[in-house]
Amino acid sequence: MRGIILSGGNATRLRPCTKVISKQLLPIYNRPMIYYPLNTLIKAGIKEILIIVAPERAGDYLNLLGSGKDFGVKFTYEIQDEPRGLADAFIVGENFIDKENVVMILGDNIFEDDLSAEIKNFKSGGKIFAKKVLDPERFGIVEFDANNKVISIEEKPKKPKSNYCITGLYIYDSRVVEAAKSVKPSKRGELEITELHNWYLRKNELEVAMVKGEWIDAGTFDSLLKAQNLAKEKLQNKLII
Ligand code: TTP
Repeated sequence: MRGIILSGGNATRLRPCTKVISKQLLPIYNRPMIYYPLNTLIKAGIKEILIIVAPERAGDYLNLLGSGKDFGVKFTYEIQDEPRGLADAFIVGENFIDKENVVMILGDNIFEDDLSAEIKNFKSGGKIFAKKVLDPERFGIVEFDANNKVISIEEKPKKPKSNYCITGLYIYDSRVVEAAKSVKPSKRGELEITELHNWYLRKNELEVAMVKGEWIDAGTFDSLLKAQNLAKEKLQNKLII
């Protein structure tokens, strides 16, 4: 299993704090934000990790993280020229993925849970991670039955079919590269990750697992503040990096 951290993007919602620094390098209590998703991957035993960054920030990531030797892993870096969407990561990462399974985590997503077993036990197909939220119209939403069988996936629905949003951790087999190449840009001009979920769902190969602990997408000022507090109160003794 290989790992990808998607750490590019524009971070417009955090301006002006992100005008000269990447969102995922902002401090979350006593560590740069990217340490938290990195911790999730390293804890799960992932040794080869691709970090996808925006061109103007690449040097900062290299300076901070280096080769990966200090963390006992190997980092590869790729540049995403434009933020073309989450599914674009699997096109940018094609050579890195090769024929392996791949787990991708967004560089601004912080999970309290230890997801190592879910990551290690993955065999094939696609697997997404859901969390109950109060404002489902803001997220990608998954509808599933009593046996956790996925019924539908919708991107920011006006009338959500469930309250379970899809968090920023995804596991796929290597066919995800082929799936990503088949995706057409959406109305907002992005390659939507929802399309990848639907690609696996159509083949009846999409699984969903529940996130039990806290999960924060630290992309707004309020969620950034929540993440700071979560990191201080609950995450300190769970981090291995
Ligand atoms: P978003 O939070 O959706 O986008 P953003 O970070 O550009 O922020 P904003 O909406 O405020 O402008 O992205 C989620 C994560 O994915 C975040 O870590 C950035 C990353 N990302 C990329 O690396 N490349 C992309 O093309 C996109 C859309 C996001």
